[in-house]
Amino acid sequence: MVDIETLKSKYAGEIKAAADLVALDVVRVAALGKKGEVSLQMRTLAQMSPDEKKVMGPALNGLKNELTALIEMRKLTLEEEALNAALASETLDMSLPVSTKTGTLHPVMQVMEEMAVIFADQGFSVAEGPDIEDDFHNFTALNFPPGHPARDMHDTFFLKPDANGEKMVLRTHTSPVQIRTMMNQKPPIRIIVPGRTYRCDSDHTHTPMFHQVEGLVIDKTTHMGHLKGCLMDFVSAFFETDVETRFRPHHFPFTEPSAEMDVRYERVGNEIRIGQGDNWMEILGCGMVHPNVLINCGLDPDEYQGFAFGMGVDRLAMLKYGMPDLRDMFAGDGRWLEHYGFSPLLQANSATGLS
Ligand code: PHE
Repeated sequence: MVDIETLKSKYAGEIKAAADLVALDVVRVAALGKKGEVSLQMRTLAQMSPDEKKVMGPALNGLKNELTALIEMRKLTLEEEALNAALASETLDMSLPVSTKTGTLHPVMQVMEEMAVIFADQGFSVAEGPDIEDDFHNFTALNFPPGHPARDMHDTFFLKPDANGEKMVLRTHTSPVQIRTMMNQKPPIRIIVPGRTYRCDSDHTHTPMFHQVEGLVIDKTTHMGHLKGCLMDFVSAFFETDVETRFRPHHFPFTEPSAEMDVRYERVGNEIRIGQGDNWMEILGCGMVHPNVLINCGLDPDEYQGFAFGMGVDRLAMLKYGMPDLRDMFAGDGRWLEHYGFSPLLQANSATGLS
């Protein structure tokens, strides 16, 4: 017969000495595992006489329970020690001065912040959606029926078809977030959507990935005058000068009527000056949300109406901050970022100026 006390002091000592969770588990297996010493002893109970069993049964069970409890306690202690060690080694000295040399805010991010600040003043909040979209949100719900020629104009990147033959797309514009918002939120709606968009196109004015800011207002009496006022105020605030604008009729499947907005500009040497001069530059598309789009989102076009707009952020950043080539923006060149980037510590805000 084994001596319970000897076993107990042996394993209690080993448990106490286990330096980490792995070592502790080795002790647990040696004592209480399937082939552990205590487990093997418990199996010998079957061969014992009834009198022996009466003594050894409770004794072995007691030993097992005691060792289990000791292991559990040691485990908690070891876990706590590991956590404290991690906390001690990961402390952050909040009083250290921040190096302003470590990085800059990309001009595209800066410009999106500026836009959010300007539109926030007009009561817009920010909404977002996924970069990988389904056909319904990117096209069908936006009144591009299957086979519609306007789909081809988007130079879409398609993903591999799924089991049902459905192809997801890299969203070709931020307009699918209009659909997601109208389907999930009751009007009045007043959102902007900054985000990445993708089209299979690359030259000195196009990159396959680019950024847009979408806008959507849905209410009961919102009309084209509100659309014009909203966007005219926006460009003057954005370029921080009075900017003359012009709205030209255009076509988008998801707005009716549709327009493009141009701003007046002049070229002086290599510099482009926005707001004055004899030339017009197109900067965004807009229009009144098409009744079919409202219906596709479960809204009654006899009750609700509103406007939407979408603009390319990258080109507006180039125009505002004088960057010559669009492709440089996404080349990831540290020197470019150091030159054109913004301090990450100065947030755009309408009280102290945008940049
Ligand atoms: N989604 C359009 C584009 O990418 C822009 C747009 C948005 C036009 C909203 C009208 C209304 O070209």
